[in-house]
Amino acid sequence: MKSLIRASIAAAAITAGPVGYGADSNVKVLMRDKLTAAHGLLEALATEDYAKLEHFSGLLYDLSKASSWSKADSPDFQYYSKSFQNAAAYVKDQAKAHNLEGVTVGYVRVSLECVQCHKFVRSQGQKR
Ligand code: HEC
Repeated sequence: MKSLIRASIAAAAITAGPVGYGADSNVKVLMRDKLTAAHGLLEALATEDYAKLEHFSGLLYDLSKASSWSKADSPDFQYYSKSFQNAAAYVKDQAKAHNLEGVTVGYVRVSLECVQCHKFVRSQGQKR
């Protein structure tokens, strides 16, 4: 369990966005909100606060539905969005079930989805 938490903290450290790609201000605000919610999730995880875990995973889920990125309607982006939503929904389910191992794994999944989508976004070269 300790190593899982350490792994999730490490994952949190690498969830910063694909900075330097000149995100427009709407995307920036949205992603800053995502970052805040992801931080909240980690805090709730560390304090085993299931109500907060449900709150922040629900928030992440909702935020992932709003997107103003110029290529947000591409099938690839939709795929990453959906994977992210699945991970957020998984955290919420695990929080409802008060399963600490489950929410920890879910948090790592969510963090990985941030990284995966950003990797994809960078690969698109930002020709807007
Ligand atoms: C489905 C795709 C996707 C997912 C999932 C995603 N992001 Fe992003 N993120 C983007 C896009 C698109 C940008 C803007 C890229 C650009 O235009 O420069 C971005 C940019 C960012 C930025 C930089 C904003 C700025 O100020 O420049 C941060 C921070 C960020 N994301 C945090 C997160 C966090 C934290 C998560 C996970 C909890 C996450 N993102 C998940 C697509 C995603």
